[in-house]
Amino acid sequence: AEKAVWGPLVGAVDQGTSSTRFLVFNSKTAELLSHHQVEIKQEFPREGWVEQDPKEILHSVCECVEKTCEKLGQLNIDISNIKAIGVSNQRETTVVWDKSTGEPLYNAVVWLDLRTQSTVESLSKRIPGNNNFVKSKTGLPLSTYFSAVKLRWILDNVREVQKAVKENRALFGTVDSWLIWSLTGGVNGGVHCTDVTNASRTMLFNIHSLEWDKELCEFFGIPMEILPNVRSSSEIYGLMKAGALEGVPISGCLGDQSAALVGQMCFQDGQAKNTYGTGCFLLCNTGRKCVFSEHGLLTTVAYKLGRDKPVFYALEGSVAIAGAVIRWLRDNLGIIKTSEEIEKLAKEVGTSYGCYFVPAFSGLYAPYWDPSARGIICGLTQFTNKCHIAFAALEAVCFQTREILDAMNRDCGIPLRHLQVDGGMTSNKILMQLQADILYIPVVKPSMPETTALGAAMAAGAAEGVGVWSLEPEDLSAVTMERFEPQINAEESEIRYSTWKKAVMKSMGWVT
Ligand code: G3P
Repeated sequence: AEKAVWGPLVGAVDQGTSSTRFLVFNSKTAELLSHHQVEIKQEFPREGWVEQDPKEILHSVCECVEKTCEKLGQLNIDISNIKAIGVSNQRETTVVWDKSTGEPLYNAVVWLDLRTQSTVESLSKRIPGNNNFVKSKTGLPLSTYFSAVKLRWILDNVREVQKAVKENRALFGTVDSWLIWSLTGGVNGGVHCTDVTNASRTMLFNIHSLEWDKELCEFFGIPMEILPNVRSSSEIYGLMKAGALEGVPISGCLGDQSAALVGQMCFQDGQAKNTYGTGCFLLCNTGRKCVFSEHGLLTTVAYKLGRDKPVFYALEGSVAIAGAVIRWLRDNLGIIKTSEEIEKLAKEVGTSYGCYFVPAFSGLYAPYWDPSARGIICGLTQFTNKCHIAFAALEAVCFQTREILDAMNRDCGIPLRHLQVDGGMTSNKILMQLQADILYIPVVKPSMPETTALGAAMAAGAAEGVGVWSLEPEDLSAVTMERFEPQINAEESEIRYSTWKKAVMKSMGWVT
């Protein structure tokens, strides 16, 4: 059959902590045409350690690209219409590989990993209280979360890496760099780069000058020659070297939370979005200025959509565990077989019956930044059953978001009047209603929830030399929204929230 005629299409890789996706959009209507998704393994070799196999990550991307292209073929859509590819990725996760063999030299140390807790403690003693240069240059608190300490640990502990650094064979990158280098040819001329958003999560990057910072690299003991080149989030980095999309430019790159901000069209100062993935991340665009938080939020690069375009910044509230708590109930407790089942269990009871679940599996991130916190389930009675625990897990995601929103409102001074949401968990209607009840403001969700991929596709399609996607708002007006209004009264919502806070206090300082 003759292939249908399509306008330019753009593909996007969404490489998250739990899964990898490849999606293809129509650049004129932002319509999602086809996609493929693969779940990614996580390894927990020791208590607090979280690793992934960089090869598995790469293969999952290639598999998703190939399968999506097959599906497009079945829809009679010619894949030669795909004019560009964007990459969005889990941030901070640290990979070191050998540029002469293309092989990773160690597993990827995932952002959730806690092995660097003692490194963080000893480093923080070296930061003068009256001159926190790490915070003022990077916008980040010293924490196990960011790449610099993970890379320090790898350099200290992996002999292969030490040898490769000495012999000038080692390359460092976050997942975007690893993927772009591999997809653009690897040992045969792969491009070693990252974008400003991903760089801003390493703790080695000066978010004011937009360069790797010598003083920070010295502080963390990182050889600067292993770092990737920093580019804007929207420009041609290189071409796909193999597979169904060989020759297509990779021209967009954004950390997944920045990508979602772009995909939700939060281009104005004060616009915010909350993405429910493995973790949960609320980002508020602060325009061209860096706003420093007084309430435990991060200052981060939001995006820079072109080499000559200005940089935009965001305030971010990071929650480590959101979707991951559902995966834990499935894989560790076995009380559900699929993630979707959680909604059925929660619906059966419609309340946690006084049970509270603080999923501080990786310590607590914003606004507490307590690496010594650990998860607790409390308020149990003989009446409590798995349905109540399931409900409490969903409520925990909402309470954590409430804490972030409160901090954001205090820092910004102007309270958010509604919350724009996206991400896998937003298909759970109970969660969305609970979120509106707990925040006591409406929660608004786009009917096309893949905003992370959309943002990466927009950046790729808009790049100079590609030019198939215009970032003017009128091109993107077709987005329809679903709204969840608060249904319980404010007083009830406050009582539940204050009991949650009591539970959080009990989870803190657990590991000494
Ligand atoms: O900072 C970590 C974040 O980028 C991970 O995102 O989607 O895997 O929860 P996600």
